[in-house]
Amino acid sequence: MSHRAGPLLVVIDGPAGAGKTSVARRVAAALGVPLLDTGAIYRTLALVAQRRDIAWDDEPALVQLCEAFPIAFGELDSAARAQTVRFAGEDVTAAIRTPEISQGASKVSAVPGVRAALLGIQRAAAGAGCVAEGRDMGTVVFPDAPFKFFVTADLRTRAERRRAELAVADAEPPSLDAVERDVAERDDRDSSRAAAPLRRADDAIEVDTSGLSLDEVVARILAHIGAGPQV
Ligand code: DC
Repeated sequence: MSHRAGPLLVVIDGPAGAGKTSVARRVAAALGVPLLDTGAIYRTLALVAQRRDIAWDDEPALVQLCEAFPIAFGELDSAARAQTVRFAGEDVTAAIRTPEISQGASKVSAVPGVRAALLGIQRAAAGAGCVAEGRDMGTVVFPDAPFKFFVTADLRTRAERRRAELAVADAEPPSLDAVERDVAERDDRDSSRAAAPLRRADDAIEVDTSGLSLDEVVARILAHIGAGPQV
C-alpha cells in the first residue's frame, strides 16, 4: 500500500482505446479501492438524452438532465473484468458501450455546461479514495491527486483493442479501419474542445502501453504508487 496518509486517489487519463478502463479496474482491485469510470457517466448521459429526444449539443436541456442524475456504480467483479452501471435502477452497462453512444458521449462531453454540472458528482463519487479514470482527472477534476498517470498507445493499437471489445458484444463488429476512424474522430474532438480538453497533466507519469501486456502496465503503475514489487 501507499506510504502516504489520507485518501488514496489515483487518476488515470488518456485517449480512447488506450486500455485505461481495463488498467484502472485492475489497479483499483489491487489497491482495494472503488473504480470511478467517468467515461461511463458521459456515456450514460448520452444514452438518457437520446432516449428523451434531447440533442447531444442542447446545453440547457443536458445541464438540466445532469441536475438530478441518479447514476450508480456496482462493485468490481472478482476478476476486475466488469463493473455494472445503473441509471435510476436500470442496468445500462451494455447499452452505453455501443459505437453510437461512444460518439454521443464524446459530443455531450464537449459541452462546457455539462462538464461543470458533472464536476460535483465526480468529486462526491471519489469518496474516501478511488482510482478515477477519464480525460481530465489529473487536470481539472482532481488536480491535487497524489498519483497521476497518462496512459497512451498508438492509434492502430487502440483501434485493435476497441474492436476486440466490440467483438465480445457483437458477432459482427465493424472493420478495423472503421473502428480506427471512429477512435481518431473521438480523439480529435476530445483533444480540441475548449472545455477541459484531453491533455496530460504536467505532473502525470506517461505510460505508453503499445508494446505492453495488461499485466505489465498494471505492474508498472502499482510500482510507481509503491503498492507493487519495486522495479
Ligand atoms: O473513456 P470512454 O471512452 O468511456 O469515454 C467516453 C467519452 O466521454 C470520451 O470520448 C470523452 C468523454 N470523457 C470526457 O470528456 N471526460 C472524462 N473524464 C471521461 C470521458
